[in-house]
Amino acid sequence: MSAGDSAAVSAVEGKLSELSTSCDLRTLPRRGKPASARTLNTAQIPLVASHPEVYEPCDDSFALVDALLSDKAQLLTLQPSLCMEVGCGSGYVITSLAIMLRQLGSGTQYLATDINPHAVDTTQATLEAHGIHADVIATDIVSGLEKRLAGMVDVVVVNPPYVPTPEEEIGMKGIASSWAGGLNGRQVIDRILPAVRELLSEKGCLYMIALEDNDPLGICHLMNEKGFASRVLLKRCTEEESLYVLKFWHDATVSTNASQSGKSPGSESSWLSPFKSFWHKSGNSS
Ligand SMILES: C[S@@+](CC[C@H](N)C(=O)[O-])C[C@H]1O[C@@H](n2cnc3c(N)ncnc32)[C@H](O)[C@@H]1O
Repeated sequence: MSAGDSAAVSAVEGKLSELSTSCDLRTLPRRGKPASARTLNTAQIPLVASHPEVYEPCDDSFALVDALLSDKAQLLTLQPSLCMEVGCGSGYVITSLAIMLRQLGSGTQYLATDINPHAVDTTQATLEAHGIHADVIATDIVSGLEKRLAGMVDVVVVNPPYVPTPEEEIGMKGIASSWAGGLNGRQVIDRILPAVRELLSEKGCLYMIALEDNDPLGICHLMNEKGFASRVLLKRCTEEESLYVLKFWHDATVSTNASQSGKSPGSESSWLSPFKSFWHKSGNSS
C-alpha cells in the first residue's frame, strides 16, 4: 500500500486533517434558467463553500441533484447504509443527498473523494455548514479504498470530468481536473466505472452525469455487459451541452441481453429499452 493509500484509509477511519481556513462560505449563486422555467425543482442548499481552485456548482451539478430528487422515494426505500460521491468538488451534491435522506438518521453514512485537496477542504466546509458528517478523502477516484469498501456502497454519485480535451490535460492539478476528460471526454469516466462497480453492494446503484459526446448509450451498453441495468433519469439541454443523468443498478439478466444485442445490432433489446423509452417520453426522435 502506498503512502497515499494509507492516508486515504486513515481518513476513512475518521482521522481527518484539520480543515483549511481558505474556504469561503457563501450563498450559492444561481445559474441557468430562472426557477419558473425549469421542469424540475432544482435543489438549492443555502450554503456552499467555494475556493478559486474548486469547481463551482453549475448546470451539471444541478441536473444531478434534480435527478436524485426525482428518485428520492426509491433512495429512501433503498435505505442506504453508505453513500459515496466520487469527485465531490464543492460538496454541493453529497450535501444535498445527505439532506434529502436526513430522515434515515444516523443509519446512513457518507463518504466523498476528490483528487483536488482544495475540494476536500471545501466539501468539508459545505457539509459542516449543514451539520452533516462525512469522511472526505483526497485520492484518485477510490484509490486505497477498494478492499475495505468492496461490495459495501449502496449509492454512488458522480459528476465526472467529462469534457473532451487533449489527453495531456488529464491529471493537471487544480481546477483543470474538474473538466478535462480526454478523448471523447471518456478517459476519467472509463476509470471510474470499473472502480465503482467493485464498490457497489448487491442493492447498490450509481447515478452519473454524462454528456452527449461521451456516448451515454455506449456507457449503458458497457455497464449492461457487466450485469448492470440502466436508465436515463434526466436529460437537460443547456446552451453549451446536452447532459444526461444515468442510473445503473445490478441486474443479472441484462448482461446476456446486452451481449446478444451486440451480435444483432438494431434489435429491440431489453438493455436498450430504458434509454429508448426515455427518449420517446421526452419527445426525442432517436
Ligand atoms: C465536474 S466537477 C464536479 C464537482 C461536484 N461534484 C459538482 O457536481 O459540483 C468534477 C470533480 O471531479 C474531481 N476529479 C477529477 N478527476 C478526479 C479523479 N481522478 N479522482 C477523484 N476526483 C477527481 C475534480 O477535482 C472535480 O472536483
